[in-house]
Amino acid sequence: MTPIDQAGTFPLGDRRVHRLGYGAMQLAGPGVFGPPRDPDAARAVLREAIAAGVDHIDTSDFYGPHVTNRLIREALSPYPASLTLVTKIGARRDEKGGWLPAASPEELTRAVHDNLTHLGLEALEVVNLRVMLDTHGPAEGSIEAPLATLAGLQRQGLVRHIGLSNVTPAQVAQGRGICDIVCVQNQYNLAHRGDDALIDSLARDGIAYVPFFPLGGFSPLQSAALSEVARRLGSTPLQVALAWLLRRSPNILLIPGTSSVAHLRENLAAAALHLPDKVLPVLERIGARVA
Ligand SMILES: NC(=O)c1ccc[n+]([C@@H]2O[C@H](COP(=O)([O-])OP(=O)(O)OC[C@H]3O[C@@H](n4cnc5c(N)ncnc54)[C@H](OP(=O)(O)O)[C@@H]3O)[C@@H](O)[C@H]2O)c1
Repeated sequence: MTPIDQAGTFPLGDRRVHRLGYGAMQLAGPGVFGPPRDPDAARAVLREAIAAGVDHIDTSDFYGPHVTNRLIREALSPYPASLTLVTKIGARRDEKGGWLPAASPEELTRAVHDNLTHLGLEALEVVNLRVMLDTHGPAEGSIEAPLATLAGLQRQGLVRHIGLSNVTPAQVAQGRGICDIVCVQNQYNLAHRGDDALIDSLARDGIAYVPFFPLGGFSPLQSAALSEVARRLGSTPLQVALAWLLRRSPNILLIPGTSSVAHLRENLAAAALHLPDKVLPVLERIGARVA
């Protein structure tokens, strides 16, 4: 048994993946724009993830753009049969690295074909529609038109499963009326708990919830309470943050991002970290203070 086996698995589409995976966004250059300073080091992180048993990698052609998908192909193709690559469409980058919506039928269709080309695949296992009504967080509004386009691409056999990202509960409900939704990827972590009710309802329906920024994002979480719990458990604060997410709900699949092999190993080791019941109220208070 490898350490990540200890966190168990959960279905993602018609496969089961380990609950600890890897998010590739940090492999692009500064600001998720352009190439990394050291492409060999980036490819080494990807190979180490696979060697450690990771079978779920999150990516997108808008990281770079095209940078992380190309690194993944260079480092990992031909892909292990067990690997589930999840990508996202619905956004694009401008020439300065800004994030813009790209949700017309033509843009979504091109994005699926670009992802297929850059990843070197004939079909994409899971594609998340990244909703950009507000770039920084979920905002109400219909997702019917772009999701219908994505469902059409699925019927053509280019996409096997569909997920949603940056969405409200109402959009999840609307989406489930249009096609099968296998995962929801929204911002959520110890200090950012807006999706608590959504996570529980998705868990009841067997749908995966994939928190982005599980460590807090570009400025990882820092809290005296988190550090104190980590000290008591002989772990690191970010391992506690990941272990808390694993404990929070069985349908949570983690994709912590890092550009460092050492951080990757530290993060994957969180699968084996047991949080005793008595530390949970201390950790819960971190979210309550921020909410
Ligand atoms: N759907 C969306 O809209 C969306 C948005 C954002 C992200 N995502 C996805 O979610 C994944 C995870 O989010 P994220 O990578 O942005 O944020 P994250 O996982 O919360 O944190 C990444 C940050 O934490 C640092 N870090 C990682 N492990 C560490 C460790 N053990 N010790 C100290 N620092 C550590 C990383 O720096 P180092 O590189 O130095 O380790 C990086 O700055 C992304 O990779 C991407 O695939 C999706």
